[in-house]
Parts: sequence; C-alpha cells; structure tokens
Amino acid sequence: MTSGLERNIHIKNYINSLFAEEDPILTAVRERSKAAGFPNIHVPSTVGKLLYCLAKIQRPQRILELGTLGGYSTIWLARALSPEGRMISIDRIPLHVSVSRENVRHAGLQDQVEVREGDASDMLIEMAANQEKPFDLIFIDANKDDYPLYLNLILPLTRSGTLILSDNLIPKEQEIGNPAPNDVEAQGIYQFNERIAKDPLFESILATTIVGEKGRVDALGISIVK
Ligand code: DHB
Ligand code: MG
Repeated sequence: MTSGLERNIHIKNYINSLFAEEDPILTAVRERSKAAGFPNIHVPSTVGKLLYCLAKIQRPQRILELGTLGGYSTIWLARALSPEGRMISIDRIPLHVSVSRENVRHAGLQDQVEVREGDASDMLIEMAANQEKPFDLIFIDANKDDYPLYLNLILPLTRSGTLILSDNLIPKEQEIGNPAPNDVEAQGIYQFNERIAKDPLFESILATTIVGEKGRVDALGISIVK
C-alpha cells in the first residue's frame, strides 16, 4: 500500500517519462542554476511541457514572464514561439539575470528572449506608461505576496484573449483556502485566486500539478482575459 503522496510521485514520474522528458539543453540549464546556488524551485518538466503546450495553442507573438530564476520555464515557453515571436522575462536579482541569459544563449534563443533586470512592479508601470503593445501570454512566477499587485499592473499590458498563466496557486502546508494571518505569501495567493475566480474580466481555472520531490499537489492558474 502506498500513501497518496508516494502515488503522486509515481504519477509525476510516469507523466514525465512519457510526455515531458528534458533534452540535454534543459538538463544543463538546471545544472547551471544549481551550480549558481539557486533554490530548486523551477517548474518541474511536466509543468514546463504544460506551459509549452498552452503557448503553442495560444500562438503568441509576445510573451511576458515575471520571475526568471535560471530561465528554465523561460526556455520551455520560448520554444513555443514562432520565429517572429518575442519574449521578455523580468527578474530583480542580478545573478538570476546573468545565469538565465547564459542559459538562454545556450538554448539558442538569445534573439527572441530578452531578460530584463529590475523590480517587476516598476517595470510593469514603465511598460504601461510607454504604451507597449499588449502581451498575448503572461506567466506569473515571482514572489507570491505580490501576485495581486502584479495582476493589477499587467492589466494595461493585456488585450481581450490574453492568456495569463500563474504558478503555485495552492500554497504549501496550509488549510486550503484559509491562510494564516502572518503568512503573507499564502495571503497573496488566496487573494489572487479569489480575484481570477470572481472578477468578470477573467475566465479562469486552476489546473492541479504535482511538484517537488515529495509529490505535493500545487496548481497552475489559467486565466483568459475577456
Ligand atoms: C517554490 C516553488 C515555486 O514554483 C516558486 O515559484 C517559488 C517557491 C517552493 O517550492 O518553495
Ligand atoms: Mg513557481
């Protein structure tokens, strides 16, 4: 008899081996990120493949990512771009920016992907002030306490039909839907979930995912701007 979590690991490994096997470039991306001392919190390859498939369906010309880390999800998403497509990924930590740029270069995506260094809030405000063209797909995977803020700040950079994908919408070790008052990350996530569920501007669902070595259930938010 296996516990639910052990079974989750088997399911994740099964899906991974059949549908989401990494190529050597993505394996090297993880290795470089690990060597740089980054926390092991990039999306699993199963979620990377899900991002890739959703991006292929959306056929984006412009992708925006908040939270680059080593560029692992960046590369999954950018591989779904057509040759004319472009992607901007934002991270405020200089070492994330330098390592992810190197990873993007190794993946041969340097002409399509621009990693920008800076605070996501500042940069979103600046992009909106510059009236940048709307993005077709936005992936939110940055600090969780600011997810509700980021949702407000990306709105001027969306159009009807923009696909908003959001990582980690089920916080760890919490009573589901009822965050502790001192847990600002879980507070942010549950506030974000209420908004994408109830605001008539969005049509949304959370797709459950299995993440981490322990097989925890998490979720990827999928929202379409009406
Ligand atoms: C963790 C996982 C993530 O995907 C993330 O964006 C941030 C943190 C984590 O497991 O701690
Ligand atoms: Mg994440």
